Amino acid sequence: MNSKNYYNPNGEDILDEKIFGGKPTGFVDFNRSRYKWDVNIYDLMNANTWFPSEVNTVNEKKNFDQLSDNEQSIYKMTFAQLSFNDSAQEEYLSDFRRLATNRLVKSTISLQIMQEVNHSKSYAVLLDACGNSEEVFNLYKYNDALNTKNQKISEQFASYIDGNSVDKMLLSAMASVNLEGIYFLLGFSYIYLLGDKVPGARDMIKFIARDELNTHLPLFSNIYKTIQKENKIETSTIDTAYTMITDAVNIELEYGKYLMNQYPIMGVTESLMERTVHNYANDRLKKIGLNPIFPQTDTTYLQKLVTKHLNMNEVKSNFFEGNVANYAKSSINLDDF
Ligand SMILES: [Fe+2]
Ligand SMILES: [Fe+2]
Repeated sequence: MNSKNYYNPNGEDILDEKIFGGKPTGFVDFNRSRYKWDVNIYDLMNANTWFPSEVNTVNEKKNFDQLSDNEQSIYKMTFAQLSFNDSAQEEYLSDFRRLATNRLVKSTISLQIMQEVNHSKSYAVLLDACGNSEEVFNLYKYNDALNTKNQKISEQFASYIDGNSVDKMLLSAMASVNLEGIYFLLGFSYIYLLGDKVPGARDMIKFIARDELNTHLPLFSNIYKTIQKENKIETSTIDTAYTMITDAVNIELEYGKYLMNQYPIMGVTESLMERTVHNYANDRLKKIGLNPIFPQTDTTYLQKLVTKHLNMNEVKSNFFEGNVANYAKSSINLDDF
């Protein structure tokens, strides 16, 4: 490795560092940010720091045992898939970070990597308390639908992550927008539907969802928009971004509908799932400056469930009082490029 990757006194000014390309000096100076949103998101991620041990999982096994057979299957299949998402995202972020240039964006990704590891740890803590950790982490070996979703997500990650062009960097960022903004959402909804029956799982998902939706999604939406603004992007690349989110919608609905048909639980229908995922996908497209292309409907019950649990104040009455006060900071502007 060239020493200039670590220290380049003749590199460009820190305010000129783009996300992709260029020659940074190697310094991380939080007082001089080219973008501002990177530092704001970093501060919010830091303020939201939580640890799996803060969630009360003492009764998780007892609660899980009282679920119906279908609910138990939904619980296991949901965590089997969500835990894959975080494992994959940690690895993808490390690859994306290596290809990026701007040091403050990279520092923010470093903190995100730590949070994805924290999410992986939280699944292990929860499932260990539930007594089915080994079974759940091995489900991909026996379930084709789970294996297929994981495989398709990993293929989307791998498709453009060689850093050979700015267009590929843009599409790599798109893969992350899909992960943070689409692939978790029906899983979150399912756990919230089980809700009070498994408060340990529900509270763990609340914290994970806040990280994914309040900071990780804005981070990669900003990265996507910034790469597009700073560079000349081929029209065909933007077309591919639309194709990628269409694929993501199909991947999410395929697994969601599989779970619904195999393990029906109260209140979930195909139409509800489709409307939910389409609305989310339109929102993600708008967040990255593209046009919504899916049928738009009123906010669904599942969307409202997810939003309700993003509310910072709701958990305050719980056992997290000390930490969660920090969530009040989420009002800072994360989108000021
Ligand atoms: Fe995560
Ligand atoms: Fe994430």
